[in-house]
Amino acid sequence: MGLLDNKRGLIFGIANDRSYAWYIAQSLIAQGAECLFTHLYLPDDKGKMERRCRKAIEELGVEDPWLVPCDASKDEDLDATFDKAKADFGKIDFVVHSIAFAHREALKMGEFHRTTRDQWTQALDVSAYTLVAMAQRSVDLMPDGGALINMSYYGGEKVIPGYNVMGIAKAALEHSTRYLAFELGENNIRVNSISGGPLRTLAASAVGGISEMFEHQQRKAALRRNITGEEVGNTAAYLLSDLSSGVTGETIHVDAGFSIVGL
Ligand SMILES: NC(=O)c1ccc[n+]([C@@H]2O[C@H](COP(=O)([O-])OP(=O)(O)OC[C@H]3O[C@@H](n4cnc5c(N)ncnc54)[C@H](O)[C@@H]3O)[C@@H](O)[C@H]2O)c1
Repeated sequence: MGLLDNKRGLIFGIANDRSYAWYIAQSLIAQGAECLFTHLYLPDDKGKMERRCRKAIEELGVEDPWLVPCDASKDEDLDATFDKAKADFGKIDFVVHSIAFAHREALKMGEFHRTTRDQWTQALDVSAYTLVAMAQRSVDLMPDGGALINMSYYGGEKVIPGYNVMGIAKAALEHSTRYLAFELGENNIRVNSISGGPLRTLAASAVGGISEMFEHQQRKAALRRNITGEEVGNTAAYLLSDLSSGVTGETIHVDAGFSIVGL
């Protein structure tokens, strides 16, 4: 018996088999969940992203996956994704939001004060507003309640040089989590955030000073090490299962205790 038997939900954010969303899907599947997948579609990449995502899903052992293109910055793509899930299944139980984007130029050390209006708007739109956009579409698909999670980082609470506008987006994401948890609580829909330690992914490689973050994490964290994707995946399984039925609006740190240490 798994913690997530008979639960089905949408996963946003698998770029490859190193993505946080991939580790989350792996844990959810191990606990009995059925995952419905989406991939980012960019018109000029000749299907490269879809192929990489499909290969990563194959590695999860899922044959013939439910997989649709979705650029979460486009309302019409989100509508099409949630409408198709409704048409195919009637309802869902969970949504995993594991997406973020900021222009590489905006993630350089010492350059936060040069952030342009466009860089700011795009980072907050893709990395934070999309959670609200997914939550509002989830209400109709979760008549019996459900759960949403998203991925944050400590740079949304404290200054991490180089994380820059993404830190502002994470602060917005974590606080949106609380507002959404309050309003959707009436529908028995829970919303929580996981603040994960640094993991070597495509998105992480764009952040200025990422190597220093890994070294600092190992020196300072209570557990004197970094975390694994599996550890975040297992926390996601807990947050999407009935084991956490009384938990909502929280940001849970899965960072080997990095954020509790001051010096
Ligand atoms: N890697 C880390 O160190 C770390 C630490 C804490 C939190 N996070 C967060 O984890 C989440 C996942 O990132 P990751 O590190 O796994 O990197 P990743 O590059 O594997 O995943 C990022 C995903 O965002 C998707 N994406 C970007 N723009 C999109 C859009 N407009 N529509 C739909 N999807 C879009 C990409 O396609 C990709 O799948 C992000 O929110 C990230 O900020 C990462």
